[in-house]
Amino acid sequence: MPATRPGATGAVISGWGTALPEKVVTNHDLEKTLDTSDEWIVARTGISERRIGGSTASLSVESGRAAMEMAGLTPERIDALVVATTTPDRQWGTAPIIQRDLGLSCGAFELNAACSGFVYGLVNAHGLIAMGAERVLLIGTDTLSRITDWNDRGTAPLFADGSGAVVLESTPHGSQLLGWDFDADGSASELLWAEVGGTVNMDGKEVFRRAVRIMVDSAEKSMRHAGVTGDDISMIVPHQANIRIIQAACERLDVPLERASVVIDRTGNTSSASIPLALAAALEDGRIDHGDLVLLVGFGGGMTAASAVLRWGGEKGASA
Ligand code: ACO
Repeated sequence: MPATRPGATGAVISGWGTALPEKVVTNHDLEKTLDTSDEWIVARTGISERRIGGSTASLSVESGRAAMEMAGLTPERIDALVVATTTPDRQWGTAPIIQRDLGLSCGAFELNAACSGFVYGLVNAHGLIAMGAERVLLIGTDTLSRITDWNDRGTAPLFADGSGAVVLESTPHGSQLLGWDFDADGSASELLWAEVGGTVNMDGKEVFRRAVRIMVDSAEKSMRHAGVTGDDISMIVPHQANIRIIQAACERLDVPLERASVVIDRTGNTSSASIPLALAAALEDGRIDHGDLVLLVGFGGGMTAASAVLRWGGEKGASA
C-alpha cells in the first residue's frame, strides 16, 4: 500500500526531540587505538566525530520527553509508543521501560528494521492513527557502540549512539504522508549482520554498492506513489551511513546535495536515530517550511530499505 487510503485518518508531526550522549569521540581519539587516520575517515566516510554512551532506554526517554514537550502533550495523552531500535537494552521489554520512565499509560513495542527502522516506524505510526489512535510517540534510538568491535578499523569509525523522536497526531485535514515504500532483500543478509550478543560484521564495499541502489529504488517508488519528482523535493533526509552514499543517492535522484540534511560529520551512523536526528537538525536550522515536500529514505542491515514523502504540516484543506 503506497499511499494513504482515501478516507483514512491522516497524521502530522507536531513535535520532535533528540538526545546524544555527552561523550565525544573524535577521529583523533580513534587514531590512538586503531591503525587509521582522521584524513582517511573524513575522506572515506564524512565522519569527524561521534557520540558514545547511554542506554537505548535512557536516550529514548530524553528524546521522547522533548518531543512530547514540544507538542504540548502530557504523558497520558499518548495512545501508543513505537520504539525503532536494532540495539534494545534487553532481549525484550525495552519499550515498556521507556513507557514507564516517560509516565505513559499506553501500549509500547519495539520495531527492528536496522537503519530503516525509523521510516518503518513512521509509516506504522500513520497506520495506528488510521486505525483510531489520536497521538503516537515514535522514537528511533540505537546504541551501536555496544555491538561494535572497537579493534576493527573497518567498522569502528562508522558506528555511534543517539536518539530522535517525533509525536504524530491525527488531523481532520489531509495526511502529511503522500507516498511510502518498504523494501527488503534477504539475499544480501550476509553482507551486514550481527549475531544476538555479537558485534557487527560487514562487507563495506558491497554494502556501499547495494545501499545506493536500494535507497534510490525505494525513494523513486515513494516519489512515484506521491506523484512527485526529485525537482519537487525541498529537503531529503537520508540515513546517515556515509557522506559518499548520500552524495551518490542525491545525484541519482536529481536532488541537489544542498537540499540534503547531513549530520553524519558529528554523529556518525546512529542507525534508527540517524533520520530523526537529521530531520530535527533541518527543522532547527529553519530549512523546512510548512507545505514543503520532505523525502525520508533509509537502508540498513538485512538488507532493508524504506522511504516516505511527507507534505510538511499536512495537506491543509484536503480531505484525508
Ligand atoms: N583507516 C585506514 N584505512 C582503512 C580503514 C581505516 N579505518 N578501513 C579500511 N582501510 C583500508 C583497507 O584496508 C583498504 O586497504 P588496502 O587498499 O590496502 O586493501 C583501503 O582502506 C580501502 O578499503 P575499502 O574497504 O575498499 O574502503 P572503502 O572506500 O570501501 O570505504 C567503508 C570503507 C567506509 C566501510 C565503505 O565501504 C562504506 O561506507 N560502506 C558502507 C557501510 C555502511 O553503510 N554500513 C552501514 C549500513 S547501515 C546499518 O545497517 C547499520
